Amino acid sequence: MKEIEGKVAVVTGAASGIGRALALEMARAKASVVLADVDEKGLAETAALVTGVGAAARTVKCDVSKPEQVDQLAARSFEHFGAVHFLFNNAGVGVLGPTWTATVEDWQWVFGINVMGVAHGIRAFVPRMLEKGLEGHVMNTASVAGLVTVPGNAVYAASKHAVVALSECLHHDLKIAGAKIGVSVLCPAYVNTAIGDSARNRPQELSATNPLAADYEPLLRKALASGRLSAEDVAKIALEAIRNDRFYVLPHPKIKGSIETRMRDILDDRNPTNTLPT
Ligand SMILES: NC(=O)c1ccc[n+]([C@@H]2O[C@H](COP(=O)([O-])OP(=O)(O)OC[C@H]3O[C@@H](n4cnc5c(N)ncnc54)[C@H](O)[C@@H]3O)[C@@H](O)[C@H]2O)c1
Repeated sequence: MKEIEGKVAVVTGAASGIGRALALEMARAKASVVLADVDEKGLAETAALVTGVGAAARTVKCDVSKPEQVDQLAARSFEHFGAVHFLFNNAGVGVLGPTWTATVEDWQWVFGINVMGVAHGIRAFVPRMLEKGLEGHVMNTASVAGLVTVPGNAVYAASKHAVVALSECLHHDLKIAGAKIGVSVLCPAYVNTAIGDSARNRPQELSATNPLAADYEPLLRKALASGRLSAEDVAKIALEAIRNDRFYVLPHPKIKGSIETRMRDILDDRNPTNTLPT
């Protein structure tokens, strides 16, 4: 059973949605929290919530796609709190549309944040965590899109499959190193956050998006609005998984049917099934 009280957590994408909920849940469990995001206004709001439950909070403006900014985040977190025990690589964005009309900028923007953001977090924090030799945990937010595929989701699904794969490798590597650092990969299905409006933080130079994205938006918005779990529910499940050192964290158990179908497709030499509800 992993102790959270009195420890230090860093959460990326902490200005909104699941990241804000993870930060608040860690604060309720009496951890100090470093909140990182590109959205300073949202960060200040999360910090007020965190300090409101009596926990210490620091905010750091950080674009996780920029290696030097993540290095800075790690340096400042260790400098201020002396240690980091829990790292939540959570910041993420999504795009929609058919695979062949996805733009270069779609791929660069989404992979820069969803994949390289996680890689930078691991590279900047894990060596420092190992050096301290303390018990800790890294939780990477992937998605069920890291375990199943649906139409119109190539860029996002490819990025989240990468997060699942790199998290599995991190788990193997830390085990072999004999480290006291656990790993989890958080794979929620739809949660009603601001993810449908990811482009609000998209840099101008990467703004060219899939010309057919709009065709897929109503379906996504409907699915997000009908999400059965709130970000808070997901965060509670995430903390329980950390306490119990559980790797795969699937807050929506019903999705396991689609994962099983996908696995059977692979093992039985079948072509991919479209498991998207119509
Ligand atoms: N909402 C869902 O249905 C759902 C499902 C599965 C997985 N996820 C994943 O959960 C994570 C959190 O998303 P959410 O649903 O809370 O969405 P959200 O949009 O509410 O929050 C994402 C946060 O990431 C921040 N962010 C964006 N670009 C950034 C960057 N370059 N550097 C740092 N921060 C940046 C945003 O400012 C925002 O605060 C993402 O990785 C997302 O892919 C979401």
